[in-house]
Amino acid sequence: MKIIKARDYDDMSLKAAAIVASVVTLKPDAVLGLATGSSPIGLYKVLIDKCRKGELDFSQITTANLDEYVGLGPEDDQSYRYFMNHNLFDHINIDKSRTFVPNGLAKDPDAEVRRYEELVRSLPEMELQLLGLGVDGHIGFNEPAPVFPEVTNCVELDPSTIEANKRFFASADDVPRKAFTMGIGTIMRAKRILMVVNGEAKADILYKVVNGPVDPMVPASILRFHRDVTIVADEAALSKF
Ligand code: GLP
Repeated sequence: MKIIKARDYDDMSLKAAAIVASVVTLKPDAVLGLATGSSPIGLYKVLIDKCRKGELDFSQITTANLDEYVGLGPEDDQSYRYFMNHNLFDHINIDKSRTFVPNGLAKDPDAEVRRYEELVRSLPEMELQLLGLGVDGHIGFNEPAPVFPEVTNCVELDPSTIEANKRFFASADDVPRKAFTMGIGTIMRAKRILMVVNGEAKADILYKVVNGPVDPMVPASILRFHRDVTIVADEAALSKF
């Protein structure tokens, strides 16, 4: 694992965006795995800025997002499809028909997880998978569990995740209880992984991810078995190292 230390959130966003930008520049038709959450918002802003200045071209890029809340549609401002449109896709020259997010409104969850897994597998190999880190060590919505889930699945959210994500909803009761997420195996197939982590609240879990045992109770710890992982973290997130 390569760890790049950033001063603060803005510095983390700039450094991580430079990595994504290099991938888009080197392979203009790359498949990118994208993430939601507050961690990548700054990085997306930098990419938007570079695209506006004509420094980056997303016209041939394909994206697949990690996860989506069950029950939320694209018009719901808490859905991850809405998040991606609002924080990135609406502001860059990407063909939206090549941006994939699980369908939160799918009537049959089992069919939806199969459909999404097959869709991701049908794409060319992902050049880069972007990840945030949950306070409980989750990646995508793969929560601590006795085993690492291999393929796209439908999960019950951990109480700590509901607590962490309630800030985006009117109340904790409004946070959906379930989500679709790419599996750990789906994520691990990406050629390269880029994780962005900021803030003191992530310091303990980031330390465990990097230095503790590889343990499905700390889902992100599996990344230690990946051949090409870069973590860009700010000083606060690295304060336990
Ligand atoms: C959410 C998302 C994750 C994200 C994580 C951290 O629950 N499903 O993909 O990485 O939580 O979010 P944040 O970046 O807001 O701390």
